[in-house]
Amino acid sequence: MNTREMFKKAVAGGYAIPAFNFNTMEQMQAIVQAAVETKSPVIMQVSKGARNYANGTILRNLAKGAVEYAKELGCEKPEIVLHLDHGDSFELCKDCIDNGFSSVMIDGSSLPYEDNIALTKQVVDYAHQFDVTVEAELGVLAGVEDEVVAEESHYTKPEEVIDFATRTGCDSLAISIGTSHGAYKFKPEQCTRDPKTGKLVPPPLAFDVLHEIENKLPGFPIVLHGSSSVPQDEVDTINKFGGNLPDAVGIPEEQLREASKSAVCKINIDSDSRLAMTAAIRQYLAEHPDHFDPRQYLKPARENMKKMYIHKIVNVLGSDGKLG
Ligand code: G3H
Ligand code: 13P
Ligand code: ZN
Repeated sequence: MNTREMFKKAVAGGYAIPAFNFNTMEQMQAIVQAAVETKSPVIMQVSKGARNYANGTILRNLAKGAVEYAKELGCEKPEIVLHLDHGDSFELCKDCIDNGFSSVMIDGSSLPYEDNIALTKQVVDYAHQFDVTVEAELGVLAGVEDEVVAEESHYTKPEEVIDFATRTGCDSLAISIGTSHGAYKFKPEQCTRDPKTGKLVPPPLAFDVLHEIENKLPGFPIVLHGSSSVPQDEVDTINKFGGNLPDAVGIPEEQLREASKSAVCKINIDSDSRLAMTAAIRQYLAEHPDHFDPRQYLKPARENMKKMYIHKIVNVLGSDGKLG
């Protein structure tokens, strides 16, 4: 299904739909199990990097399998969107639309304003012929956006959003209010330190900018990228068992919980899944040096990701119990 009704209900209901990236079968299985057990709608998203890694044909068939798998697990009418994350060209979006994706993102955020509008509109005009919904982006996130590196974040300008949404016809808008991609969202000098734990405390999200945007576009679906929380227990496990992730820091979950109650109706999480998987695998291999069957260490990795997905759905985004 596409995102139209899903977002309308989420904005009205004050919760957000989880958008989890996947590259592997284990991530797909964990996402589906978590969504079924919590009775949550879910967006499974594929980046250009995921397509390069796993092959686009394989990923979209995994997503088809995900729907069948959800039914097999007892969910009569699963609500699963297959979404292209950070599409960077019309051709890539068209390829996904032609091959069964129900939603695409065209990320023209690094382009000059008028060029972003033109590219987004071209994708919207094509996608809407097939009832595929389109996410656009205005404002630049700090960190690495696929292959586009943004050193600084440029908050979305609220004065631009009406013009942008009207002229492009996009169905949802990703905005920049201080989130950022990856496990190192802020430099230590941008943060303070908790005197007790020594851990970094990041600067708060720009809720004033979010509220101004909501006032300009009442009820319009807003998307947050770069919303992993970088759980410190996973980082600690990784570091304990041979990893080296000093000063990794994410977005505090209370702030995401607050954002979910607003017009923010899609929250993107990828890095937390990577951390959950890596922590479980590092621990397992360190504790079982004689094991070498991938199923032995991928099973706890899948369980750890599932636990994380359920936690996000129930305790952060509030999308549990929101099916049909
Ligand atoms: O926003 C980027 C997503 O986390 C996807 O990352 O391009 O490394 O697959 P990726
Ligand atoms: P994180 O790196 O914070 O998980 O963000 C993922 C994302 O925005 C995917 O588009
Ligand atoms: Zn993103």
